[in-house]
Amino acid sequence: MDQPARSEHAPHWGLDPNCVFLNHGSFGATPREIIKEQRRWQDLLEHEPVHFYEDVAMGFMEQSRLALASMLACDSDDLALVENATTGVNTVMRSLRFNEGDEILVPDHAYQACRNTLDFVAERWGATVVTVNIPFPISGPEVVVERIMAAVTSRTVLAMIDTVSSPTGLLMPFEELTTKLEAAGVSVLLDAAHGIGMVPLSLNSLGASYTTSNCHKWLCAPKGSAFLHVRKDKQQNIHPLTISHGMTFPLGDTTRFRHEFDWTGTRDISAHCALPATIEFMANLTEGGWNEIMRLNNELAIKGRNILCEALSIEAPCPDEMIACIATLILPKGGALNGIPLHEPDPLHEILQTKYGIQVPVWSWPSPKGRYIRISAQLYNSEEEYRYLAHALKQELSI
Ligand SMILES: Cc1ncc(COP(=O)(O)O)c(C=O)c1O
Repeated sequence: MDQPARSEHAPHWGLDPNCVFLNHGSFGATPREIIKEQRRWQDLLEHEPVHFYEDVAMGFMEQSRLALASMLACDSDDLALVENATTGVNTVMRSLRFNEGDEILVPDHAYQACRNTLDFVAERWGATVVTVNIPFPISGPEVVVERIMAAVTSRTVLAMIDTVSSPTGLLMPFEELTTKLEAAGVSVLLDAAHGIGMVPLSLNSLGASYTTSNCHKWLCAPKGSAFLHVRKDKQQNIHPLTISHGMTFPLGDTTRFRHEFDWTGTRDISAHCALPATIEFMANLTEGGWNEIMRLNNELAIKGRNILCEALSIEAPCPDEMIACIATLILPKGGALNGIPLHEPDPLHEILQTKYGIQVPVWSWPSPKGRYIRISAQLYNSEEEYRYLAHALKQELSI
């Protein structure tokens, strides 16, 4: 079987034509026009750096926050522009104070880097990280709500939950969880790394204490663009990881939160400056704008998953309602490639890449123990690419 073509949207991206790129989920992929836009901002900066940083940068950053806020239904002043979701999680966790014995809830599907942050901070304060097991395969979102709410005790102060989990690709019932947890007095730190551009987010009505999301993933913005949203009543205690002038700068008519997050030292803000253009460019790729992009990607992810399930004779591990634009499957045992120890690179990943030109993550996961594969669906992908992956997997797993 020959390598299939991408979709009609693919020419907007500069992706390697010899690669079947089914891993938008890890780092995103940015259209050529947006990269050009980022370079335009870098040129503008270098044209007159002092004028750029001292006179106009704040205004450009404000335009970016306003563009994000209109997509997120929130107040632009509650947004901090950060480099990535890991930084967003660290910013919150390393700002907060905990008491000995406080409990921090986290599902076992959390992204390991963010989980590490929780463990690091909890240990410093003598707090306890309570891991909530979420089954996989899973029958529905109500299981997640039941399991997490059952783990809340009088000592629970914070819960880190995902919009979409990284290893298992599950669209979590994050809205219901946020409402219930916040009502129970538990602050929610929403890890929406797979958030903006992948699922609709309405932050004011959501009511989470803290939300961080990557723009470089599903918004397709340049790398190093993300935001942290902090609810107004929580802003006083949240400080950037880098303390700078903002801490003492005369307040004027703005907030300390704004001052502190708007200037964290000299840095390349071109990815952030490119956000308004990114939002508009992407929205214009389909007639229905962002809602249509999310709908199309969701449909394609489910189609791709069904193609794989049928070809490999396996059951889908979750209902369609728990899929957004990525989908994880547990691979059947087969061929000579079983039994890869956890944390070791899976040779199947390498084989798919070198023999078939497919970029897709394959790894081992302990709960339940098995070999997992995760597909992504973005506008540039085509249905045929998942058929090609199914063909390659059948060959390599001797199915
Ligand atoms: C759920 C989740 N959280 C956090 C991250 C970290 O994103 P970044 O490396 O951009 O900080 C990822 C990355 O894939 C993720 O999937």
